[in-house]
Amino acid sequence: MLGGKHILLGVTGGIAAYKTAELVRAFVKAGSRVKVIMTRNGSRFVTPLVLETLSGEKVCGDTFDLTYERDITHVTLAEWADITIIAPATANIMAKIAWGIADDLLSTTVIALKSPLLICPSMNTDMYKNPVVRRNMDQLKGLGYHLLEAKEGELACKTHGSGRLPPLEDIVEAAETVLTKKDLEGVNILVTAGPTQEPLDPVRYITNHSSGKMGYALALMAKRRGACVTLISGPVSIPVPAGVELVSVITAREMRDAVLSRLEGHQVIIKAAAVSDYRPAGFSQSKIKKGVKALTLELEPNPDIIAEVGRLKGHRILVGFAMETEHLLENARKKMAEKKMDIIVANDLSEPGAGFRHDTNAVRILDPEGGVESLPLMEKKEVADRILDRVVELLKRRKLG
Ligand code: PMT
Repeated sequence: MLGGKHILLGVTGGIAAYKTAELVRAFVKAGSRVKVIMTRNGSRFVTPLVLETLSGEKVCGDTFDLTYERDITHVTLAEWADITIIAPATANIMAKIAWGIADDLLSTTVIALKSPLLICPSMNTDMYKNPVVRRNMDQLKGLGYHLLEAKEGELACKTHGSGRLPPLEDIVEAAETVLTKKDLEGVNILVTAGPTQEPLDPVRYITNHSSGKMGYALALMAKRRGACVTLISGPVSIPVPAGVELVSVITAREMRDAVLSRLEGHQVIIKAAAVSDYRPAGFSQSKIKKGVKALTLELEPNPDIIAEVGRLKGHRILVGFAMETEHLLENARKKMAEKKMDIIVANDLSEPGAGFRHDTNAVRILDPEGGVESLPLMEKKEVADRILDRVVELLKRRKLG
């Protein structure tokens, strides 16, 4: 999403300005073009030369500095930007924007903007809590500007409280979200992800290789597209996307209860979790001791969650996955029909880099009308977007039908 985008970064006078060097690097790495406007005080905390070197673009400061090329004015900068981000944003710049004051290049450019503005405040905690600052921030939100609240933590003035610039990855993610089309606004989506663990004794369990990456990518991309997302996840070690509600579970039976108790209120269910089909028939309260003889485990079937959802789903859209090592399409089609799925996503395990653990996947998307869309190896986030495109199509068709 950030690839090829024009990002105008406004840097104002706060100690967190030193972090903007890394922010510029992150955007450039994501394939964006970055131009920086610094206020006079901003350039006291980080030199324009640093940001100029990292962005590869002239840093702009004074509205009337005649040494700049003729086409760098507040109006051309505003037209150039796909998004403007002010980080760190001081109380002063927020007050100016809230009240329409245009007395330097940054505040003047903001008045000329037609594209979105993301404001990332950072300041001393008493300043951040000041009612005038809070009122200005509310006013900015009311005017439709995007505001990323500051974080709590240790501040440069050696106090602890809210006022820290949010982590750079949160700023990058907020920019991604602002730039993403909101075609799932108002849609509640439930995603399952990761493996389940089926305990055998206090120290052992049966599980599989799922990392949760595919399900978490679906949750993230659905959230960016405006959906309200509930993520029911087995044990994984990847961060939960900001703005997504997480429900943690361990076993298939816990996952079943979590899904079924939340069906109401969700229009779309996406089952990317790799659920253990079987669990140990008994649980040993103490660790099973090593012996010399072979040990036979008795397993009993777990509930088939997707089959139950298929029976109860009504008008909901149900997306399932298929993990097969042979006869992929035939088996996937059979699962889709038996479990009343609207779409099934078949992992193409013949492709290196597809399936469990990878950041990439290669899938075929099948529908009940016999359609097969084969996607080449791509990032799981991209696969997630393509699946969500199909969900959007189905939602539109159902509204029309
Ligand atoms: O997590 P990653 O490392 O990123 O890997 C992603 C993935 C390969 C796990 C994912 O893309 C995937 O394929 N998930 C489903 C794997 C699976 O369990 O496939 P299956 O063919 O056994 O199950 C078919 C469908 O039934 C799945 O939607 C599954 O969630 C669901 N199911 C399965 C068993 C069960 N008891 N209840 C279920 O709901």
